Amino acid sequence: MTTLIDAGTAVIKCEDGNHTLALTDRELTAERLIKTSRKHSFDPDVDVDWDAPPVPGLYYGPPEASSLYETELWDGLTEDQRIELTRQEVSSLASFGIWSELALMQILVQHAYRVRYDSNDFAYALTETADECRHSMMFGRMVRTFGLTTHRPRALEYNAIKALGSFHDPMLMFAATLVIEEFTDAMQRAAFPDERVQPLVRQVSRIHVIEEARHIKYAREELKRQVAKSSATRRKLTAARLAWGMSGIVTRNLVHPSAYAAVGLDPGLARRTAASSPHRQATLQWASRKSMAAFEEVGFLDGRARKIWQKSGFLAQDASPSR
Ligand SMILES: [Fe+2]
Ligand SMILES: [Fe+2]
Repeated sequence: MTTLIDAGTAVIKCEDGNHTLALTDRELTAERLIKTSRKHSFDPDVDVDWDAPPVPGLYYGPPEASSLYETELWDGLTEDQRIELTRQEVSSLASFGIWSELALMQILVQHAYRVRYDSNDFAYALTETADECRHSMMFGRMVRTFGLTTHRPRALEYNAIKALGSFHDPMLMFAATLVIEEFTDAMQRAAFPDERVQPLVRQVSRIHVIEEARHIKYAREELKRQVAKSSATRRKLTAARLAWGMSGIVTRNLVHPSAYAAVGLDPGLARRTAASSPHRQATLQWASRKSMAAFEEVGFLDGRARKIWQKSGFLAQDASPSR
């Protein structure tokens, strides 16, 4: 059961004790985020040098972030093949990013539809939608500039998310947003300062990291508010659905099978190798650490959800993320 102490605090009763949440005012948060958006927004059409040729010998993402790094398959690749694999994997991540952003845009419009049209919350939800429009076009253009094509997820997932766009379940949706935004953020934060990485990828990553910081804040604060007014049963059920759905979606879609085929590897073998790689598992946990810490705080690792995240490798077996 959730007890509201006052307008600014909620206590969530979890199996490991009470979690006290500080709730922020929705209008005030939105007002601050609108101000940040005015100061720190980019126009990828002019803020990215699309005409610069790729720099020979540079990776397209940090090699450590590759799904096969520190495996026998990686060791067997030439340097050119490793570079090509990072080009393919960054394109896969961009494709997954576009698909996720399209889903998020639906959530944001659903949210805006329901709030007062003269409120800051309305204005911010549309500001974030506009950010995501620019991001998706930027990712698509990046993949095209690489000379590659984007990928859609398999039909089942593609259609499931399309249908889900017409339902409004804000607690589930903002939590799902957090999983993907924190994950992408971690990967891109590693890429943009890395001098071994192509300048185009670094600039695209930098723009995305700066603009996503406010999206993450918005999703986190909204998730807390949603949890505060939810029953414990509904929270736990939503958390378990999220863990089950998102762990599968992220695992299956991060690297498209064609990325492995492009460097002469058997996609099935490469996928199994990545899945059993301790380095890859550590990378997944590292990239998910902030969303897992946020979930721990709001009672989203309570009950079955924790085991599902652990089983899928996003959360260490013995770990309780720091709060
Ligand atoms: Fe984005
Ligand atoms: Fe975002």
